[in-house]
Amino acid sequence: MALYAIGDLHLSLGTNKPMDIFGPKWENHTERLRAAFSRLEPEDITVLCGDLSWGMDLEEAKEDFRFIGGLPGKKIILKGNHDYWWSTVTKTMAFFAKNGITDINILNNNCYFYGGDAAVCGTRGWFYEEETGSDHDRRILDRELLRLESSLKAAGDKAKYVFLHYPPKYGAYVCAEILDLFLKYGVRMCCAGHIHGKSLQNVFEGLFRGVEYRMVSADHIDFTPLKILA
Ligand SMILES: [Fe+2]
Ligand SMILES: [Fe+2]
Repeated sequence: MALYAIGDLHLSLGTNKPMDIFGPKWENHTERLRAAFSRLEPEDITVLCGDLSWGMDLEEAKEDFRFIGGLPGKKIILKGNHDYWWSTVTKTMAFFAKNGITDINILNNNCYFYGGDAAVCGTRGWFYEEETGSDHDRRILDRELLRLESSLKAAGDKAKYVFLHYPPKYGAYVCAEILDLFLKYGVRMCCAGHIHGKSLQNVFEGLFRGVEYRMVSADHIDFTPLKILA
């Protein structure tokens, strides 16, 4: 059994959204994802860090969820800024059940335990800069902080691995409140996505204040899930 992470599948099996907006690197990306996932075992778990489907609602995203559900192993999903289909957990799980889509769980104010002593925590996160952010941004960040803290609290004394869509440390930017929560709850690792193409040159990866940061947007890791824990 292993824990993996990958963000930003940006699937469009039901919507025909061209991926060349992200550049030639994305050619045949759905097939490349399928090939990379084929090496996973049924008991493996992959956290999908947002921007899953271009579908505007659950119905439009259905084929993308069939694809995700059909990949080997279990999947834990969280919200990205492009997940317009996002609905309540109850409605989404009912939609999956109705359409025979299995092995997808939702990370939202909760956590999932992994092995004997690890926990998968997380939420979407947000970019918010004190000088330039609006009141609206501030409110979104405050909500995300509450969601993250609920998730971390639910993990109790387990080793905490956090998965976000927005990286809380990127270039010169740091989201102090999110990093404070990491310190308060002794988070070990933070994986995030959202960053693509040329912007990837500013990602931070490595150890910072005791937390290991990794960027897992699909084009950064060659559309191959990154192993987080064996
Ligand atoms: Fe994104
Ligand atoms: Fe994305």
